[in-house]
Amino acid sequence: MKVSAVVLAAGQGTRMHSDTPKVLHLLCGRPMLSYSLGAIRQAATEKPVVIVGQATDKIKEYLGDAAECVVQEPQLGTAHAVLQAESLLRGRTDLVIVAYADMPLLRAETYGRLVARQSVNAGPLSLLTVMAQEPRGFGRIVRGVGGQVAAIIEEYVATPEQLEIHELNVGAYCFQSEWLWDALHRIEKNPRKGEYYLTDVVELAAKMELPVQAVLHDDWTETIGINNRVHLAEAEATMRERINHQHMLNGVTLSDPASTYIEAEVVLGRDTIILPNTHILGKSVLGEANIIGPNTIIRDSTIGNRCKVLASVLDGAVLEDDVDMGPFARLRRGAHLASHVHVGNFGEIKDSYLAPGVKMGHFSYIGDATIGENTNIGAGTITCNYDGERKNPTEIGEDVFIGSDTMLVAPVKIGAGAKTGAGAVVTRDVPADTLAVGMPARGIKKLQRKPKKS
Ligand code: UD1
Ligand code: CA
Repeated sequence: MKVSAVVLAAGQGTRMHSDTPKVLHLLCGRPMLSYSLGAIRQAATEKPVVIVGQATDKIKEYLGDAAECVVQEPQLGTAHAVLQAESLLRGRTDLVIVAYADMPLLRAETYGRLVARQSVNAGPLSLLTVMAQEPRGFGRIVRGVGGQVAAIIEEYVATPEQLEIHELNVGAYCFQSEWLWDALHRIEKNPRKGEYYLTDVVELAAKMELPVQAVLHDDWTETIGINNRVHLAEAEATMRERINHQHMLNGVTLSDPASTYIEAEVVLGRDTIILPNTHILGKSVLGEANIIGPNTIIRDSTIGNRCKVLASVLDGAVLEDDVDMGPFARLRRGAHLASHVHVGNFGEIKDSYLAPGVKMGHFSYIGDATIGENTNIGAGTITCNYDGERKNPTEIGEDVFIGSDTMLVAPVKIGAGAKTGAGAVVTRDVPADTLAVGMPARGIKKLQRKPKKS
């Protein structure tokens, strides 16, 4: 049996008050659309069709070949949106799932239940409903004689009696393909808003005396939809809880899940401990038995096993095993710390490789450098890598001892086993096994000013 899917993502998203299309707003680091699409891709057998309206290029670029894109222009409502997929799907599939891209918390299994129910339904459609105390503006499920689903009534046209109904339309459906297209053509424009409502197909089926199946869902947290930024924050909190929960079940300790922010694509190894107020973001991958935090931000970084990162910020960095850093260290893009490196407080490192066993205890800046094994970087050492025009490299060999407050004026090389005295300003290469001392800045020379850029 062929199961296709249409994901509606063309709405204006007016209630978001945003220049970004609603479905590209981020939820735990990934666009909202990616969640419904991911779930749908598991429940369907065919490539999903995404209906887009706003910023179509941005959305198409994001989707790549993960979905077929169809533009709905103008956007005349949810029924009109589904119709845009008719020419792609009619006559080519058995069942059609229709999902709304602003319902990111619905799981693949939930769409799966809908498909399973519809595949044994003699009638033309099954839909997902939920019982909720708070209606959140959702359509109400009206049941007729014998408890049969008779209609979906949108909140703004509902009678006071209908407003009291607690069974809500979640906005996920599974249709018999051929029936769907015919039904959509028969839907009339809603006189109040001038839109064609997909929800009207339910009443149509009921009037034709065809059975509509309701799959009543018991987890209301999955049915949080996003129409405004209050909803966005609620959905983010729920998604965060879900992510944290899964990591804990996989063997990661979160000492305070409520203050632990782990984005959707992060990978964490077992026995890693995450302490409070820690953010692990982007495409970060952490191995086993690390102790991270408190008060740490890690973005797009790779960390091996048994590292300790205390109150530090890492962005685009690599730590191998048994690295120990912080508090208050900052690793920027391209910082690579090999095993057993120690970085203490107030160190900053970017685009540099620190070989195994390098120690850098206090107050240093290392940029565009490579540092050999077991070298010690004294307190206050600076690689002066920028001469005002370009970045220059520093190469330090193994077993070097850089004295406190050394200025390494790049480009410069320090040979293996060399030492620099405290406060040295090194402007020339230092050969292996030699000692460099003193400050060279005795002369003052005339500079040629660069013309200002216009
Ligand atoms: C819709 C349902 C409502 C349900 C609620 C739950 C209708 C008429 N109402 O209301 O019964 O309780 O979802 O989530 O369907 N879209 C398009 N093209 C359009 C209009 C909308 O692609 O012309 C897309 C939107 O991008 C969105 C989805 O369809 O992803 C739903 O539209 P939205 O305006 O959010 O509908 P709701 O008011 O939430
Ligand atoms: Ca919505």
